[in-house]
Amino acid sequence: MLRTVPGDETAIAVAPAGRLGGELVLPGDKSISHRALMLALLASGESHIRDAGDGADVRSTATMARALGARVEREPGEAGNVDYRVTATGGAGLRRPSGVLDCGNSGTSLRLFAGIVAGHPIEAILDGDASLRARPMARVIAPLSAMGARVEGARDGRPPLVVAGRRRLQPIDWQTPVPSAQVKSAILLAGLSATGTTTVRESVATRDHMERMLRARGVAVRTTPTADGGAIVQVDGPATVRPVGERVPGDPSAAAFWLVAAAIHPDADLLVQRVGVNPTRRAAVDFLGLMGAAIEERPSGEASPAQVGEPVADLRVRSSDLRAIQLMPADTARAIDEIPILCLAATQARGRTMIRGAGELRHKESDRVAGIVTGLSALGARISVDGDDITIDGPTTLRGAVVDSLNDHRLALTFAIAGLVAEGATTVLGADSVQISYPTFFADLERIRS
Ligand code: S3P
Repeated sequence: MLRTVPGDETAIAVAPAGRLGGELVLPGDKSISHRALMLALLASGESHIRDAGDGADVRSTATMARALGARVEREPGEAGNVDYRVTATGGAGLRRPSGVLDCGNSGTSLRLFAGIVAGHPIEAILDGDASLRARPMARVIAPLSAMGARVEGARDGRPPLVVAGRRRLQPIDWQTPVPSAQVKSAILLAGLSATGTTTVRESVATRDHMERMLRARGVAVRTTPTADGGAIVQVDGPATVRPVGERVPGDPSAAAFWLVAAAIHPDADLLVQRVGVNPTRRAAVDFLGLMGAAIEERPSGEASPAQVGEPVADLRVRSSDLRAIQLMPADTARAIDEIPILCLAATQARGRTMIRGAGELRHKESDRVAGIVTGLSALGARISVDGDDITIDGPTTLRGAVVDSLNDHRLALTFAIAGLVAEGATTVLGADSVQISYPTFFADLERIRS
């Protein structure tokens, strides 16, 4: 079962599971939870958010919304989630925070709040932990500066960021240099304060939660798909955000861990309930299907039809015979958060899996390319990297070892799942990082294993 490791309370030892079975209700989608709190801060009146995720990242956003003037009340929701009631006086009521805005480990908080502050006549300093301070921010500094805000980073444009906003920004027409929903969302949030139409062009259509949620709040947002799988997104400003009530779907990025766990385990049958299956978030489900994973999808409606329009489904997954897959750079971009767990799936799949264009993974909470190659190699996987391309040959019998998550939640979750199928015990260093996105993970793990 699970053991903590004497002398290192951040480490957890995972023993192999004889069987995986049962039902799971997941943390509320992290991307949607962040956005719901931020848009509630910008709305005038009372917003209700049901079943938001309660990971440390979303908590950072809630604390920042308070520091900028919202009243944020929380109550327990379903399965460790949180129901928020947020009262705010609209964008014009944003107040200058009295201290530094601490984003913790959360890139989404930092980049999106930079966009919010940029469109208001206040100044704020946005900072975070050592991991966040190492992440690139030039990608938001450039567009927000072009819109007329003053945005300065430290060395190489890394955090802390000082953002001095303005009541009226200039609209821009911006091609994002790398596909990034965070950058797109930051520009759209700033676009709410621009006079005219702000346009974001992306070469790969990234998650579109911000667009859906803005529309649900009465803001005119247009999306035009391009022939090559990209998108052009436009928002007309200045715009007013209406408060809404909504329910957050289960996080598809969290679901991916259980889909892979069941698919690679020889005796597994799991039902993952109420998972968000937005077309811009379901790449991992689709890729696992192409690999031969036995996933049955039963649509269970929309999270809250009138407001969010996010499709939701129950996913049943059983032990599977997996085969290798080839992912091109655009595929990799669409499954950006699920690449570590897909690498684990590939170690159990017949043939050679290629994951091309994984360079962006080096700029996440850790260098995930290095972390996944080192960790899975330690477990006996045949995995290598050449430039930005990852190659994995399978199937390989994994053997328990000590693996370092680099304090990165998605690596810790991946290695813990690996421990369920490896021979002997797998010790995950920095396992407490699961708190970032999935605080109930180890409790869920204990419940569904035997
Ligand atoms: C997110 C976008 C992605 C993703 C992150 C959440 C979002 O980041 O990796 O976990 O909520 O917009 P990038 O936009 O940097 O690719």
